[in-house]
Amino acid sequence: MHAVVLVGGFGTRLRPLTFSTPKPLLPIANVKQLEHLIANLSTAGVTDVVLAIGFKPEPFLHAFPDGVCAGVRVHYAVEPEPLDTAGAIAFAARHVGISSTFVVMNGDILCDVNIAELVEFHRSHGAEGTLHLTPVDDPSQYGVVEVDEQGWVKRFVEKPQPGETTSRVINAGTYVLEPTVLDLMPEGQRLSIERVVFPAMVANGTLAAMPSNDYWIDTGRPETYLQANLDLIDGTRQRILSSVGTNAVIHPSASITHSVIGDDAVIGEGCVITDSVVLPGAVIGDRVRLERSLVMGTVGADATLTSCVIGSDAHIDAGSQLSSKKVPDPEKTE
Ligand code: GDD
Ligand code: MG
Repeated sequence: MHAVVLVGGFGTRLRPLTFSTPKPLLPIANVKQLEHLIANLSTAGVTDVVLAIGFKPEPFLHAFPDGVCAGVRVHYAVEPEPLDTAGAIAFAARHVGISSTFVVMNGDILCDVNIAELVEFHRSHGAEGTLHLTPVDDPSQYGVVEVDEQGWVKRFVEKPQPGETTSRVINAGTYVLEPTVLDLMPEGQRLSIERVVFPAMVANGTLAAMPSNDYWIDTGRPETYLQANLDLIDGTRQRILSSVGTNAVIHPSASITHSVIGDDAVIGEGCVITDSVVLPGAVIGDRVRLERSLVMGTVGADATLTSCVIGSDAHIDAGSQLSSKKVPDPEKTE
């Protein structure tokens, strides 16, 4: 599955930090914000991300030299001029030829919504588009959404005037879209998805929305950018980052979430490690995926291990797919 990530904003409110670094490339607890976001997309089965870049592409082009982030291929769509949100999505989608259900994310938010659940909600509704919704205290700076009991959007108001709506539920900036939505976005045209495309879909009754109370923060202001960092180290955010031991060698394109990496461990290019412990001295090959596993030994490239326990002498062959296995098998070992 493809995802388009919008990274075209100017980051005005985070100046002077964004004079040197675009907002999505600023680190949150030592990991680029964009990497946090792509790691979440990766856990939902996204294989390819297109960065929709409105201006100043260079820092993005240099950020992922291998063209891989969190085990996901990264593509670049640089608009001839900033095309606004819908224009940017359409430009990026046509750039890589998206022709099936895809995900879109605003690049300036950080959230732990379960994207696989959002895709499932979208499919079960037979919607043309599905928004993720989150509650906020003051919705005036956001896209405010009114939904019916079945989860269909009845009204979408971008940056409402006081009194225009009583809803406190907002567009959280993650969407699942069918490629037919691109028919509403003429090529090369500057167009806002929030002000034009979503209201048109509401009128057609094809826009659904799934609320969730998962961690969500808009990192665009100094105080929220600071908060996003502190939330990760003080445990407010449940999907905490990882603990990494001394002298561990971790390839910059590897994605490590909610895991512990021991001293001297080696983690290869493009690995995706989630809810796991890599013990001191373990060697994890390129593009390995580890989930809920404990590893002391060596894992060959392209292997996928789910709920496995790997001892210090074990060498898992490249390309293996193991689930709920202990290697070596303690039942057969004296
Ligand atoms: N490529 C590209 N080109 N990206 C763009 C452009 C453009 O011309 N204009 C905006 N973007 C990107 C921004 O970088 C950001 O990631 C995303 O599109 C949304 O634009 P913002 O300018 O940040 O909008 P906002 O924060 O006022 O409101 C949006 O986000 C809210 C949630 O944080 C809307 O989607 C609201 O409806 C939503 O509630
Ligand atoms: Mg924003």
